[in-house]
Amino acid sequence: MIEFPMADRVAALPPYLFAEIDRVKAEVRARGVDIISLGIGDPDLPTPDFIVEALCAGAKKPENHQYPDYVGLLAFRAAVADWYKTRFGVTLDPAKEVVSLIGSKEGIAHFPLAFVNPGDLVIVCSPNYPVYPVATGFCGGEVKILPLTDANDYLPDLDSVTDAEWARAKMIFVNYPNNPTSAVAPRAFYEKLVAKARETKTIVVSDAAYTEMYYDPAERPMSILEIEGAREVAIEFHSLSKTYNMTGWRIGMAVGNEQLVKGLGKIKENVDSGIFQAVQEAGIVALAKGEPYAEQFRGIYKERRDVAVAALAKMGIACRTPKASFYLWCKTPAGQTSSAFVTKVLQETGVVLTPGNGFGAPGEGYFRIAMTVPVARLEEALSRIAKL
Ligand code: MLT
Repeated sequence: MIEFPMADRVAALPPYLFAEIDRVKAEVRARGVDIISLGIGDPDLPTPDFIVEALCAGAKKPENHQYPDYVGLLAFRAAVADWYKTRFGVTLDPAKEVVSLIGSKEGIAHFPLAFVNPGDLVIVCSPNYPVYPVATGFCGGEVKILPLTDANDYLPDLDSVTDAEWARAKMIFVNYPNNPTSAVAPRAFYEKLVAKARETKTIVVSDAAYTEMYYDPAERPMSILEIEGAREVAIEFHSLSKTYNMTGWRIGMAVGNEQLVKGLGKIKENVDSGIFQAVQEAGIVALAKGEPYAEQFRGIYKERRDVAVAALAKMGIACRTPKASFYLWCKTPAGQTSSAFVTKVLQETGVVLTPGNGFGAPGEGYFRIAMTVPVARLEEALSRIAKL
């Protein structure tokens, strides 16, 4: 048999965290175990009907059956710009400062290809969404990890990066509200980051997929583009996935600096052919009319959060009460590594958690709970863990 070894950079990759979780979950389920999955941030509630109806209407239009625009329907990009204006007070030119994405993961994975040369330094705040370092590696970039810890309130210490490193840095990935830690960045952090990036000519990649999953309307997470001067250095990735329960639809957007948006658009023209236009039409109505539904979902997650935080406290598991996102970032019981604890919980209780070290070495000693099941199932999951 002829062997076809994968390219070195691909062979060296660990299995993709969430694909691996699905694999182990399927294995345990096949043994007849009643699995409760809190392992992946995939909203369990359905997409609101009015969005599904817009998809059906869009699917019936023959003009939507051909190739879509590479960078997205101008009407979709205008809906994104309107939403940014209403939600963040940020004005965007839909023709130049917005690009549609087949989900924000796709955009994040492709973006470094447009700007990172082999040997460039890319700063990744970690624990992190696994795609940031993987995408960097695909371009031959070198990753510098900035740890996010309980002690630094899960905000990277920008002063710990040396001048020589800033001089080499092509881009920095930040993600607030943060996956997996659920931390929210204050305005002062973004101001400092934007000032440093402007000074050092570093691209800021802000992954803002969770801004609409907040719990206190007085403390709504912000967009980096609200900061003066951010548009000189920043591109922000967002998505309809978490806000309107649309993970399976694959629709998101990148907005911000015109050159950065253009660079990503150039990659996309060469590697994909855009989003089915009927999905974009559904996305337009989601952005325009979805806020009351997002509000309803926030209420549901808040109830889950309060139940889970109380149950974890009772068990003596340390976890901050999240102000945003639907994740709980919890310390493993003393002396247990992330993987050992999560494996034991899965094998002995059927509850799927995510090991903290799956988000990078600084996540060791933690596990993540995604609040993606109804309250009764969440209580059941936590009571199984408590017995263990
Ligand atoms: C997660 O569980 O971290 C997310 O669902 C992954 C993703 O959004 O791709």
